[in-house]
Formats: sequence, structure tokens, C-alpha cells
Amino acid sequence: MTNMNTSRDFPKITTHVLQEMKLKGEKIAMLTGYDYSMARLLDEAGIDVILVGDSASNVMAGNVTTLPITLDQMIYHASSVMRAVKRALVVVDLPFGSYQGNSKEALHSAIRIMKESGANAVKLEGGKEIAESIDRILSAGIPVLGHLGLTPQSINKFGTYVVRAKDKKEADKLRDDAKFLEEAGCFGIVLEKIPAKLAAEVTQSVKIPTIGIGAGHNVDGQVLVLHDMLGINQEFSPRFLRRYHNLHDEIINAFLSYIHDVKSVEFPSDKEQY
Ligand code: KIV
Repeated sequence: MTNMNTSRDFPKITTHVLQEMKLKGEKIAMLTGYDYSMARLLDEAGIDVILVGDSASNVMAGNVTTLPITLDQMIYHASSVMRAVKRALVVVDLPFGSYQGNSKEALHSAIRIMKESGANAVKLEGGKEIAESIDRILSAGIPVLGHLGLTPQSINKFGTYVVRAKDKKEADKLRDDAKFLEEAGCFGIVLEKIPAKLAAEVTQSVKIPTIGIGAGHNVDGQVLVLHDMLGINQEFSPRFLRRYHNLHDEIINAFLSYIHDVKSVEFPSDKEQY
């Protein structure tokens, strides 16, 4: 008999639940999260996966790229998220420089994340070129999410954030890398900013879930950066981004009201004092 449970029926989302979701055709909803308060809201809303992305480097720390964020800083963000989450699967990015050097260093970084934050899995950018690192991390029993297409940690190699894998050579490499990640034992693959047709083809060709960002709808799930989808960050407007709120204006209006009330001594009122 087919199990008709949806992800909402599971008390805790695991990598196995994500696999079942793919088999049943239920889409996986993933968003980034970096702090306790937002992670509580994400978990309460029933998000399936929270990615403690190295995009924290941009949206939390104000850096231009993801490169400066450190392993200690990622562990800080991941620990804050873990204190809030009861149900979502929490995946943490291995930051730039913490796994590319050699596979021992990669394992050491992944173990630190798992031990010190209590997170459920790690994400690494790249395919066959980081095969040894992926293998070692998986051998230690740490679930790995792959990441192909636009890989922001390689921005200095790419030179731009344009759509990846439009030409045959790069598309073929991406197809190969996706197969490699599946065979290596990764539990899923993020596909960032690639043609929708290629993402659909890769999704069909692998048994593990694919999570798209700028990769069309024929993938197994979607991920967006929290600050972008909430409209806190107004400067970043790629075509793939849907803004679900205009928090920028709402927050500015709240600040303006507060400033006005303080200056005009309308706050605090008699009722708001002891
Ligand atoms: O760091 C991040 O937020 C990411 C997503 C964009 C997939 O890797």
C-alpha cells in the first residue's frame, strides 16, 4: 500500500523523508536561516529544510561575496538555528577554504559543524573535483547535500553571477557531476541558476532530490535566501526571485514611527511606565 503521508505528517524531517517526498512527487520547501528568531518562525510555519547558507556572509555580515565567512562564524549561525528548530532538517554550508584544501581538512570542518552546532547535514559546492572530500565526509556518517551550477564560492573564477551551464561543455560536466554526487551517496543536489530544461533533465536522471534556485519548476524543491524573499534586501533583483513580502518598507515605517514617537514624547505613554 502506498504511504500517503505528506511532509507535514512527519514529526522530524530527515534525509529519508526528502527521498520519500521525491518518490511521491511532493515538492520540498527550503529557505535559508541564520538566527534563532527567524529559525523559530521558519520551523513553526512548517518549512521542510533550513539551509544555514554561507550567504550569511552577504545578508548577515554585509560582505560582497560569500568568501570571507569563517567556519567559526558558520558554527555560530548554525548553533543559533539549532536552538530553535524542532522539525525542519538543518543543513549547513561548509564555508570557502574549509574543505577545498584536502579531504582531511574537509572532514575536520564537517565534524566541527556537526559536533558544535548539532546540525543534521552539510552542503559543499562542486562535483568530481571535491570527490575525496565528499567521500570522506560521507564515510563518517555525515549526510552531504551537493551544489552545482552557479557556485558562489567560485565567483573569482567565473567573474560574474550569470546563468551557468548554457553551453554544451559546461552542461555535460554538470550532468556528469550530478550522476557522480548521486553515486557518491549525497542525499540531494542544489541546482543554482541553470537553464530550466537542464535542471529538469538532471532531476529526471537522478534518484536523489534536486533543489532549485533559478532552475525552473521541474525540480524536486525550491530554495531562496530568506532576506531576499522577505524583501528586506531591495538591491538584489534577479529574475528568479519572488518577493513574498516588502519587509524593507514595513521595518522602515516602524522605525520612522518609533523615532517620531520618541522625539515627540508620545512614547512611552503613562500606561507604558511604572
Ligand atoms: O548560501 C546560500 O544561501 C546558498 C543558497 C543560495 C542555495 O547556497
